[in-house]
Amino acid sequence: MDKLLISGGVALVGEIPVSGAKNAALPLLCAALLTREPVTFTHVPHLNDIGTMLKLLAQMGVKVTREAEKLGAGDTVTLDASALDNPVAPYELVKTMRAAILVLGPLVARVGETKVSLPGGCAIGARPVDQHIKGLTAMGAEVAVEHGYVHARASRLKGARLFTDMVTVTGTENLMMAACLADGETVIENAAREPEVVDLATCLNAMGARISGAGSDVIRIQGVEFLHGATHRVMPDRIETGTYLCAVAATGGEVRLTGTSSAYLDAVIDKLMDAGCAIVGERDAIRLKAPPRLTAVSLRTAPYPAFPTDMQAQFMAINAVAEGTAVVRETIFENRFMHAVELIRLGADIKIDGNTAFVSGVARLEGATVMATDLRASASLVIAGLVAQGETVIERIYHLDRGYEGLDQKLAALGARVQRVK
Ligand code: UD1
Repeated sequence: MDKLLISGGVALVGEIPVSGAKNAALPLLCAALLTREPVTFTHVPHLNDIGTMLKLLAQMGVKVTREAEKLGAGDTVTLDASALDNPVAPYELVKTMRAAILVLGPLVARVGETKVSLPGGCAIGARPVDQHIKGLTAMGAEVAVEHGYVHARASRLKGARLFTDMVTVTGTENLMMAACLADGETVIENAAREPEVVDLATCLNAMGARISGAGSDVIRIQGVEFLHGATHRVMPDRIETGTYLCAVAATGGEVRLTGTSSAYLDAVIDKLMDAGCAIVGERDAIRLKAPPRLTAVSLRTAPYPAFPTDMQAQFMAINAVAEGTAVVRETIFENRFMHAVELIRLGADIKIDGNTAFVSGVARLEGATVMATDLRASASLVIAGLVAQGETVIERIYHLDRGYEGLDQKLAALGARVQRVK
């Protein structure tokens, strides 16, 4: 299994490109299930999760063509679901990537029947899919959970008024996709407002859907008989952007991230400025210059546009070496502090009480061997390793490969001493 070796203590300086967003690309690829015509996506990040999704779609009978571009430019992927003949998502694939649940809505809408494995729990919490099921049932689908699979059937879904009990990103995306082919109007209330939901709606509208309100908490979808092919460019990854901003900030460096936008990152940029960084948003880029030492910043995660849970671990790492004490509250997932114990192994001073972490900044961290537990936790360990004195070994980096395209090359381009070893 690959490991990452990091010799910390170098201020990161330079310019790197930001890749397409994993969390936008995954639902977009599933949207291709809604039509018999080919759909082409550009700027698709080269990531393990994308590979898993393409494998899943291919075994359903979708014709997949993938052309690799250079690092940061993303792949071009064309999906042709005209011969779809096996609308099943097996446990083996769903267990490695929960986002596979995103095939549920499109499949029941387009072919009238599907079996999708329940994702089960994951490192950061239970993560049920009851809201996806509740919404499809309200649209007239017959849904049964049998032998660990969600079995959904409907001759044609009917437009309905849907309300989700909590804000759910993939839940909103699943129901929005299903509603595109339903009979009549669907209204999703308490919808997720994440930019990835907007990117998906833009693509669906280009395919002939009639969606309005994406980006607000009420989305209206007028069902149509069929969707057609389209070409869509995946939006930039705001979490990758935020992760590199944090890495550079923690090391006291200076960076220009290209092919991205500060527009999706207000809450994160606000906190980095509170921490002492100077940040300038350009047309398609962001510049950051860090102070010699950051100031600790408290935060609370919540659905967009508030501070993203997917950036909580990275801020824990920068708070670990900042001046002062920060209070970090996680409100989305019940078990998302596993990076704290690993950061403590590097010398961080962190106390956990339920969903709250108290982080007192220390003057320096020291390199050690640590274990990555999930995608964003791994990113926080990389940031800590970049500032720690001596060598940090990060094990189980397959988590990083699920979500960060060319992480070691991009860090090396900024001057980091990183090495991937088999
Ligand atoms: C998406 C993102 C993930 C991010 C998360 C929160 C993708 C592929 N993944 O995950 O990176 O961390 O949003 O911003 O876009 N819940 C239920 N029942 C449901 C659905 C959700 O109880 O049916 C709960 C979850 O357990 C969690 C909360 O709602 O506590 C939010 O989860 P949700 O927004 O659905 O996360 P994902 O869409 O899985």
